[in-house]
Order: sequence, then structure tokens, then C-alpha cells
Amino acid sequence: MDEIKYNPNTDYGTPTSQSTKKVTLTVDDRQITVPDGVSIMHAAALAGVTVPKLCATDSLEPFGSCRLCLVEIEGRRGYPASCTTPVAEGLVVHTQTTKLADIRRGTMELYISDHPLDCLTCATNGDCELQDMAGAVGLREVRYGYDGENHLKAAKDESNPYFTFDPSKCIVCSRCVRACEETQGTFALTISGRGFDSKVSAGNKSFLDSECVSCGACVQACPTATLIEKTVIEAGTPEHSVTTTCAYCGVGCSFDAEMKGEEVVRMTPSKHGGANHGHSCVKGRFAWGYATHKDRITTPMIRKSIKDPWQQVGWDEAINYAASELSRINEKYGKDAIGGITSSRCTNEEVYVTQKLIRAVFGVNNVDTCARVCHSPTGYGLKQTLGESAGTQTFDSVMQSDVIFIIGANPTDGHPVFASQMKRRLREGAKLIIADPREIDLVANSPHIRADHHLKLRPGTNVALVSALAHVIVTEGLVQEDFVKARCEWDSFVAWQDFVAKPENSPEALSEEIGVKAEDIRAAARLYATGGNAAIYYGLGVTEHSQGSTTVMGIANLAMATANIGREGVGVNPLRGQNNVQGSCDMGSMPHEFPGYRHVADYATRALFESAWGRPLSSEPGLRIPNMLDEAIEGSFKGLYCVGEDIVQSDPNTQHVTHALENMECVIVQDLFLNETAMFAHVFFPGASFLEKSGTFTNAERRISPVRRVMKPKNGYEDWEVTAKLSEALGYPMGYQHASEIMDEIALLTPTFHGVSFKKLDELGSIQWPCNDEHPNGTPIMHIDEFVRGKGKFFITQYVPTTEKVNAKFPLILTTGRILSQYNVGAQTRRTQNTAWHPEDILEIHPHDAEDRGIKEGDWVGIASRAGETVLRAKITERVQVGVVYTTFHHPESGANVITTDNSDWATNCPEYKVTAVQVSRVSQLSDWQKHYKTFSEAQIAFAGKKAEVI
Ligand code: SF4
Ligand code: SF4
Ligand code: SF4
Ligand code: FES
Repeated sequence: MDEIKYNPNTDYGTPTSQSTKKVTLTVDDRQITVPDGVSIMHAAALAGVTVPKLCATDSLEPFGSCRLCLVEIEGRRGYPASCTTPVAEGLVVHTQTTKLADIRRGTMELYISDHPLDCLTCATNGDCELQDMAGAVGLREVRYGYDGENHLKAAKDESNPYFTFDPSKCIVCSRCVRACEETQGTFALTISGRGFDSKVSAGNKSFLDSECVSCGACVQACPTATLIEKTVIEAGTPEHSVTTTCAYCGVGCSFDAEMKGEEVVRMTPSKHGGANHGHSCVKGRFAWGYATHKDRITTPMIRKSIKDPWQQVGWDEAINYAASELSRINEKYGKDAIGGITSSRCTNEEVYVTQKLIRAVFGVNNVDTCARVCHSPTGYGLKQTLGESAGTQTFDSVMQSDVIFIIGANPTDGHPVFASQMKRRLREGAKLIIADPREIDLVANSPHIRADHHLKLRPGTNVALVSALAHVIVTEGLVQEDFVKARCEWDSFVAWQDFVAKPENSPEALSEEIGVKAEDIRAAARLYATGGNAAIYYGLGVTEHSQGSTTVMGIANLAMATANIGREGVGVNPLRGQNNVQGSCDMGSMPHEFPGYRHVADYATRALFESAWGRPLSSEPGLRIPNMLDEAIEGSFKGLYCVGEDIVQSDPNTQHVTHALENMECVIVQDLFLNETAMFAHVFFPGASFLEKSGTFTNAERRISPVRRVMKPKNGYEDWEVTAKLSEALGYPMGYQHASEIMDEIALLTPTFHGVSFKKLDELGSIQWPCNDEHPNGTPIMHIDEFVRGKGKFFITQYVPTTEKVNAKFPLILTTGRILSQYNVGAQTRRTQNTAWHPEDILEIHPHDAEDRGIKEGDWVGIASRAGETVLRAKITERVQVGVVYTTFHHPESGANVITTDNSDWATNCPEYKVTAVQVSRVSQLSDWQKHYKTFSEAQIAFAGKKAEVI
């Protein structure tokens, strides 16, 4: 049989089947061969026959409640529901008979007799399955009248900022309830009551007060206007759509931007999205209003001094002023005084042109990216051990995992759509190990999921834990020696084995240091090594430590020793925080590497780029962000081009960062908003939102996805165009006409991208690199037959405790994390209605620590560290352990980084955000820093001619 071609725009009614066995049947005289296990409804759809349906949709398991999809099967009695009846060899099915038509009309009549007949004024008029079905079954009259008992006066719930629930239109098909359970895994909805009294309930609360996390899956699943986006109610149904990629997290969900002219009406997660398969979270689905927020700056601005008001100017003047300042600095102080910082919010193409500008125009490698402060240890650690600075799997691979080991990551908040997929696998029975100091939602708040082991380690002891796990694997004979012999450097393995086997690396020896019982560590190690396919997922709780790179290498050691790498269901998977962390690193944004992770000292690579760019290039690694800042304070670094990054808010020790910026002579900031760094800038280039530009993002699974322009840039130019204009003004025209030409150049010069082009992305939807002659359609799973570096290499992971120690003055450890509704420094999400869920950052503190200090729920508390002080409101919770406090970092006025220290990873300088010794006490007013911040930022906003309010 030919392979079945699925059309992403067709609803097949019920899910497909993975069975390789085929079954042939006849539907309305059409013979069709389909995978065993699909429903008759699904087979009919494949045969091009549409069976009426209401409670079925192919993203959900069949339910069989609406009775609209009945069919007749020759040789069988009655009228079975086609959505719940599986196919069988030789069945002869009839979907359209007089009897079936009668039954369906009768069923529809009952539905419509309890439905407000306001179709002409209904927001989904023309886009409603109930309306469609009334037409499809030929309903012409409703005999029962509307006088009897009905639900037509049921009150609307408009509490959710983004969608409404109008129960008067509900047909109780349960699609929303099932979407919340099966797709999202939150179980916020139920059908309460029986018979006529059955109704959808969010736990007898409003949607906003319920467990609902506003993912939108129920809205998407609802066949009527019962659950509907408020934007659709306001703007009407969309008239065209463009597929693009979410600009928030590293999951990289694909969305159809549904438009009316140049206005986005709604963002609908694409069913054919390789990373999300039609699911979404609250950020990508609903929080796109920032793109048109009044705070957007759309006119370029310049000023001589940061004490001066901004002066609005035209693009030419701004570009020429910036170019003349950089040239002046170059002449006066030399090329080493200039550098660039890119962002993981930028497209690949923007990052590429920015690093090209710095390297080709100034002949220096002073270019760095915000991955410096998040996943640079991933780049280093995985390159050393496996040979490639990237995760090894697809997200879908988790569906083949038997053991899921999460270290230092909080997927439900940081990577919500992948977390939903992971939760589905866990509900199917996969085992779960979590290593985290805090009770993340997967432990504390996920129905039908239980962590088999929660290793509640002390912050800063990851390396000790990884070594102790390795000790158990080695000393209990759990190493897969055949794999190691065939695939890894044997000498490195033996050295590592000898090291971890030492008694000082045993769980018993390290238990007290780690804060976890030795038997729990032993049990987790045994499960990881022997439980079947075991996959490790990790996040910033691994990397943002003084030994971040060591832990990454230790994780790779564990995977290699147990042969949990190189196939589906296993692997080492860094969960990248921002949308394009992977891509920005791939594009040569680090000071020691050209695109494709090739060292600047490598002669052949440099010659390749010199020939392509026509300029001599430096073989010396350039300055990292912390070096740029240090040298600015010393007076030798003077000019910075900062694209899409807010180093004042996102880098550690804020006072140090601002002092460095104050010492520079030309700071150019390119961003959507006047961010915290722009307060220290001399030139402001307004940026374009992801809706206003073309390019690509690369997600945590190396998936390159297209970003498509759906409206004109409000500032006049796409961001890469601004960089190219600056380059031209500096005497180095780049000559691109479209972002696709930048990708063509990337593909030409970067072996792992050789096969990538916008045309191919249009054809395939997305591509996981490496994509080249060997892998023309990309590479879902890496290191299958051999590691990228040839043989995998084990590294010794000697535990070195952080120098950030608790003592009598600073007795608590502060650690940080993210929350679902906000994104990173919050520049975008704080300008959306997501603030309904997280209006401020708060400090979580254990009841014992709170009681010791006389702190009550909601009190203002001062948090003092060796670096600084800030003030937050307290939340008393047992989700943190005694001795540990926790906060998020989404609001600038919280000053989370005012208190983080200068400690950083030994290999990459990634800051040690996850361990800061602090004291916490009740206070009655803001810290001095916060008062200064408020005054300063109000003045800066006023300088830009905006309403002076701190957001
Ligand atoms: S929006 Fe998502 S979490 Fe909320 S009820 Fe609907 S499906 Fe459940
Ligand atoms: S709200 Fe929509 S999806 Fe849920 S039961 Fe009612 S009609 Fe069905
Ligand atoms: S924020 Fe992440 S999980 Fe949410 S829609 Fe965007 S890419 Fe998907
Ligand atoms: S679609 Fe089959 S019973 Fe509803």
C-alpha cells in the first residue's frame, strides 16, 4: 500500500494508529487500506468520506457521546458510532442512508432546541461545527420549541483575560475536558451533574481562579462558541493565516497567525508543528499583545550623554551617528574597545549579521550572546564529551522513554508544551526521577503523576550528586561495557571509572553534603541504569553554577556509561530557555567561534570566512560579556552594539553592569522597548517584533523553524536590515535583499547547515540540523552509530564546592527560577494580560525560616547578599526546603540580580545564579537600590517622551 498522506488541514475525527498491520475495508463503495487500530470515522476520512461528528476530533481519543457519527455495517446489528468502532478486515460500511439521516436529524434537533439561535451575531458565525453539522444533516425545523427547561440563560464566565466561557452555547461534548486532560495534562475541567444538569465546570470556580493554566487547548477543541478567544469576539473571524514560530521559549511551537489584514486576530498552534503538534501554552497562544503595546519605541533616538533627554531622529541620522561614534572609538582607542552582544530572542539571521559586522568591520572577535548567562556550559560540556554542542533527541523521543530524569529544570513552567508531552508519557507509566532543591510542579501539582524519586539536593551540589550516581552505576556493575568499548574512548572511561569508584564519591560519603539520603541516591541510580530507555532533561539548574560545565559533562558520562544515547527514548537533552538559544550559539555568537562552533584560531575556517567576507579576520578569541564589562570599568572598552539583549536586567551583579555601561562612550541598544540597558544608551534603534520580520529560530531539539513576516515592521525595518545599514555606514555593505539570502550564506559556510534554505523550510515545515548531503531532510536523533567527535569521551568530574558559602551573616541560600506566565526579564509578558497570574516576583520561604524571622505571608522582606540588597513580598511554602529561599526574575524592580554575585562557571563564565548566600528579614520599605531604580527609570522613560511609569 502507498504511504498514506495526511492533510494537516483535515480533521480525521480520531487519532491515527502506529500499527504497521494494515486492514482493508469498504466505506460507501470506496475500498481503502488503513493502519489497524484506527476508527471507522478515521478510515472514512482517509477515503475522502466525511461522517458528521461533534464530540470527536483527531487530537483527542474518541468519546462517543454525541451520536451523530452513527454508521451501518453490513452483517452487524444496530448503528455503531464510527468514532469508537475500530476498523476490521473486510468491513463494508455505509455512512449515508435514509435511516442514518433520520437519526442524525433527530439528534441535531435536540441539540438545537437548547441552543441560542443567535448565529448571525455569534462570534463564530461561519466557523462553528454545530452550525456546519446542522447544515450537513439537513436540519430544517426544531419541533420542540424553546419554552421548556433549557440552559439559555446560563451566566458567562469572562474571568480569563483571553477567552470567555458561555455555557448557554455548550453542547456538553466534553472535548474541552478531554483536551485539558489528554493534551495539556492539567485536569482543570470536569463535567459535573448528570443528564440534563450536566455542565462543564472548572472545579466550581471561575476559570481564572481554577487550576486552569490558560493553554487554550480547550478553546481550540470546542466545536461551538462556548469557549472562544476574546480577540475573535472583538475583531470577528480571521480571513487569512500565515504559519510562523513562537518567539518565547526553546520549545519553538509553530503557530498559524490568523489575520484580518495586518491585524492578528488569534494565534492558533499548528497541528503540523514538529515541536508542538497543535498544542501551545499561554504565552505563545495569547501573550502577543506586546507587539502593539503603547510602550513600543518606533522612532530612532540619539543623545550625547545618558544624562540628556533622548532626541528623536530619522533612521539615516541615527545610523550615521552610531557609525561615526564607533569609528571615532576605533580610531581613538583601537578595535579592542568595541564589541557586540546578540540575544537568543534574535533570529539566526540577525545573530549572524551582528557577529559578521563585529568580526568583518572591526577585525575583532568581541561578540557574545546571552547564552553566556544560561547555556554556555551546555555548549562546552557536550562538545567535549559528545562532540556537538546540542541536545541529542527530538521532543517526540520522550514517548519512547521508560525513565525520565529531570535535573535542574522545571518543564511545566519553562517548557510547558514539551512538559505536556512528557506528562502524557508519565501517565502512560514511565518512571520519573527529579533532582531539584524545590518541589517543582511535576512533584507538587500534576494530577496522576508521581515522582518515583525526588532528590531534594542542596543548591550547588549537582556535581557531587552526579558523581554519587556514577559511583553506584560503576560499583554495582551497571555499566554497559559493550557499548562503552564500541563507542567511547576506553582510556577515558577507565580513568573516570576509577575516579567515581573511590569511596569519597559514594552516596554514603556525599549524602550529607548533597542533603539526600544515600539509599535514595542508590535507588535513583539503579532505576536510571536499569529501567529501560532512560532520558535526561536538564536546565539552568545545572548550568548556572560555578561547576555548570562539570555537571553537563557528568550527565553525558552517565548517558554513555549506561548506553542511554544514540536512539529514541534516551539521550541528553538541555531544555533551552529562550526561543533561539540553540540558534544564537550555532550562528557564531561566542567570541571564540565562527558559525558552526569552529574555533577562530582554526586556519582553514578563518580562511573560508575571510574569502567569503573579503576582510582579514582575527585569530584571537574576543571578549566575553563579563570581560567587556570589566574592561569598561578599567577604561579600555568603550563602544557596545547590543541587539535584543537587556544585560542590566539579565546579567549578575547589576551595580557592576551599570557602572560598566556608564563608563562607555557609545552604547547602541536595538530593542522593542526602552529596556533597562537602554537607560544607559546613547543610540536607540527601535526593533521589529517577531510578527514583523522573516528569519528562523532553532529550538532545543535543533529544529530550525521559519519566522514569517505577517505585518509591516512598525519601526520601518526588520532587525537584520538595521544591522546591515549600520555595517554599510561603517564602510562594509553586506548586500542582502532578504533574510533568505543570509540563510543561503550561512548554509554555504556552515557544514551542519549546508542543506538548509527558506525554500526547503517551506517544503518540510522545519528541519533539525545537521542538514546536509548525508542528511538532506535533517537529523532527528544524533550520535546513532558514532559520536560527532568519533568516540565519546568521559571526563573526570571532581566536585569543588562553591565559594559562595552560608554563614551566620548570610545563612540562607537563594536560588532562582521561572514561572509559566512570564518570560525571562518580562519585557514582553509584562506588557500583556499575563500579569493577571504573576504581577510581581515573590520570595518563597519555608515556614520554619519564616517563623524564625517573624515573617508572615505577604510581608515585605529584605534580601541581603554579599553583593547587594533588594525587597520582595514573602510567600510561605513548604515547596522550598529549610535553609533555601527562591524567587523568579521577571520584574526589573525586583532586582533579583542586584543580589547575585560575580561567581561563575570555571569554563564559560556562566554566572552562578542558582546559589547566593542571603539573609532575609522583615522590612517596611524598598531597598535603596529599588528607590534609585524607580527614580532613574521614571526619568529615563520621561526622556523618551513616554508617560513616566515604571512597568
Ligand atoms: S485553557 Fe488549558 S488548562 Fe485551562 S481549562 Fe482549557 S485546556 Fe485546561
Ligand atoms: S465548552 Fe465546548 S468543548 Fe466543552 S463541552 Fe461545551 S461545547 Fe463541548
Ligand atoms: S512559550 Fe514555548 S511552549 Fe509556549 S507556545 Fe511558545 S514555544 Fe510553545
Ligand atoms: S462523533 Fe462519534 S459519537 Fe460524537
